[in-house]
Amino acid sequence: MSQQTIDFTLNGVPTRVSVPVQMSALEMIRNVAGLTGTKYGCGEGECGACTILVDDKSVAACLQFAIDCDGRSLTTIEGLAGDARAQ
Ligand code: FES
Repeated sequence: MSQQTIDFTLNGVPTRVSVPVQMSALEMIRNVAGLTGTKYGCGEGECGACTILVDDKSVAACLQFAIDCDGRSLTTIEGLAGDARAQ
């Protein structure tokens, strides 16, 4: 299984992970980064349970490859919760 190392910002934290090239962003966030607030629902881009922000745009993480997060800024529900506490 081919792996690729990617660098991105996750909830404001510079992050580097090595992931299988076919892994979804959702799997990477939950199983590699360990942030489980982003949920798996339909796996087809319909339910919104896996919604994250990628460069401040709403994205279904189940449909995006993890390797396409390289160089991007990701925000999950945990990151939004942090914003709420700061106010
Ligand atoms: Fe339903 Fe991604 S799991 S839209």
